[in-house]
Amino acid sequence: MNNQTESIVAYVDQNIVEPVIQPVGYYGIKIKECAVEDVDHLHAFQNMIYDFLHEDEKGFFLPKTKSFLTDHFNAGSQAISAIHNGQVVGQALIVLPTVQSPKTGMTDMALPAPLESLSIIQGLAVHPKARGLNVGNILIQAWLQVSEDEGRDNVLAETSQDNPYSWALFNKNDVPIVSEGVDLTDGTALYNHHCSLKTGRQFACI
Ligand SMILES: CC(C)(COP(=O)(O)OP(=O)(O)OC[C@H]1O[C@@H](n2cnc3c(N)ncnc32)[C@H](O)[C@@H]1OP(=O)(O)O)[C@@H](O)C(=O)NCCC(=O)NCCS
Repeated sequence: MNNQTESIVAYVDQNIVEPVIQPVGYYGIKIKECAVEDVDHLHAFQNMIYDFLHEDEKGFFLPKTKSFLTDHFNAGSQAISAIHNGQVVGQALIVLPTVQSPKTGMTDMALPAPLESLSIIQGLAVHPKARGLNVGNILIQAWLQVSEDEGRDNVLAETSQDNPYSWALFNKNDVPIVSEGVDLTDGTALYNHHCSLKTGRQFACI
């Protein structure tokens, strides 16, 4: 997995100050499935994303602790990274809840289907210098593919209502807003997204 050209280590060592994608397009992005060995790097990327958000955007994104990320993998959940030229330009966690590990990460939504049919994307994040280049779109499509492969027919996501780049991206990928919620810890107004993959949804090409 830790091929040097696709190593998450490259992210920590090399990025943040230099653009990671030249604005010529998004071709060449690969999706890497992460594992518990990648926790340090996932954690570093999440903190970088949070640090780059303006104060009034901090509610968009909640960085996870290393122990949260470790538990996430140990519970059988997954994570994906988008790699371009050997550097991580985006990532997302994929929560696959079970009866033994029932946490979904959804803050304020009545679950629309049995726990073991759910796949929830969390912590979707794209490097600040790679935004608007389709990386988020590619990560969502990869999440939908993982969900289908895992037989998780009900895909869920939660977005901040003040974050149109995020909720519009889910709508565009046919994971529409189905209800609203509130994060009572900080008052953030939320949108809940849900789609059933059993309805014959067609995936766009990555
Ligand atoms: C939300 C986020 C993941 C979107 O990723 P992205 O790779 O920039 O999104 P994409 O390029 O695939 O597409 C998003 C859409 O918004 C537009 N867009 C996104 N960011 C933009 C930017 N900074 N400037 C201009 N347009 C932007 C894109 O052009 C695209 O529009 P289109 O569908 O009409 O073509 C990214 O902005 C991010 O990491 N934000 C901080 C963390 C966050 O808010 N996460 C969401 C948690 S739910």
